Amino acid sequence: MKRLNWGMIGGGEGSQIGPAHRLAAGLDAAFVLSAGALDHDPAAGRDFAQRLGIAADRAYGDWREMLAGERNRPDKVDLVTVATPNATHYEITKAFLEAGIHVLCEKPMTVTEAEAEDLVLTARKAGRICAVNYGYTGYALVRHMRAMVARGDIGAVRLVVAEFAHGHHADAANADNPRVRWRYDPAQAGVSAQFADCGIHALHMASFVTGQEVATLSADFASCLPSRVLEDDAMVNFRMDRGTVGRLWTSSVAIGRQHGLTIQVFGETGGLRWAQEQPNQLFYMPLGQRLQVIERGEGNLSPEADRASRVTVGHAEGMPLAFGNIYRDLAEGIAAMEAGRAPDPAISLYPRAEDGLRSIAAIHAAVRSAAGKGEWVDARPKLFR
Ligand SMILES: NC(=O)c1ccc[n+]([C@@H]2O[C@H](COP(=O)([O-])OP(=O)(O)OC[C@H]3O[C@@H](n4cnc5c(N)ncnc54)[C@H](O)[C@@H]3O)[C@@H](O)[C@H]2O)c1
Repeated sequence: MKRLNWGMIGGGEGSQIGPAHRLAAGLDAAFVLSAGALDHDPAAGRDFAQRLGIAADRAYGDWREMLAGERNRPDKVDLVTVATPNATHYEITKAFLEAGIHVLCEKPMTVTEAEAEDLVLTARKAGRICAVNYGYTGYALVRHMRAMVARGDIGAVRLVVAEFAHGHHADAANADNPRVRWRYDPAQAGVSAQFADCGIHALHMASFVTGQEVATLSADFASCLPSRVLEDDAMVNFRMDRGTVGRLWTSSVAIGRQHGLTIQVFGETGGLRWAQEQPNQLFYMPLGQRLQVIERGEGNLSPEADRASRVTVGHAEGMPLAFGNIYRDLAEGIAAMEAGRAPDPAISLYPRAEDGLRSIAAIHAAVRSAAGKGEWVDARPKLFR
């Protein structure tokens, strides 16, 4: 397969998510990091890009300069990853899609539902891929969990319980740290902080694993640090479109919790539990039998899990490899489009702009519900009602 040119916007030196993207995109030798506007500080971005091996003329000071520099090059970037703070995602993603460049946008995809809807329609019109980085869905055992639910191993799903609770923003003395502050600033983060930052990973995971969409929800938001305008803790009850009951807790003040993304699914004939901090084990409880521990990489897993698993059983796989599975799906999707052929059906699992839109609609529904003392509201995007 021809190596694809890859560009990054954001993900500068010291950023949280930039290194995971660079590791992931490099895993299968499908992408070459060819261009970047990596930092809000143009000089720092240019300097860091060149230290990462990007040629000086493609180490840009900002994304508009990058778009102008790339759009007419014969070797222009095929895919751009947008890993900047939330409020900038929309205009950057839209501009690159309109220039005919595929985009992997960080979550939350946009701030408003109208913007998210516009990106879905822009990607369709441009005939380009707009993916959203719900990267934890790239884990082998998350894909296996989905396959087990889909083939009926636990019967009809009664209940899904999702959590994403960490304690890294609990220190009031650290609230002004620039990497923490933007997440609680409505001008940069949008209408929600913790639910939009972490809760939507858990909510998307609930949909991914059950194969159902969120229909209605009721939310309770709290700002445990009173200086925060936006919430740092949320409890969300929801119902899915085939009747499954959903429970979700997300927090950034849960001291002692590290990453805290877990998903549990309870059906008529069994239960499943997976936790991001122990991603190589999936706990399976068949009704009336003993607890079973499914190991990533063992024999007789689903084709989805085998495809996503990269090292032999007993060796730890982690988050950049999960993200790598998203990049590998995108590489195949882009290559298929360029060759005018149908893509490998196995790539169907990567998260798309439609998933990003569903999350943004759910964020706004949760904000409305929380303001209305937990009233139940429609969580579906207007475009899909
Ligand atoms: N999918 C995931 O698991 C996951 C995890 C963490 C963060 N994220 C998302 O990734 C995005 C970035 O988060 P982070 O934690 O890395 O933030 P961060 O604050 O650690 O880093 C942001 C980076 O973007 C750069 N930047 C800011 N504005 C820019 C601009 N206009 N042009 C170019 N670069 C710019 C900054 O200089 C910095 O390098 C957010 O949308 C966040 O929600 C996703």
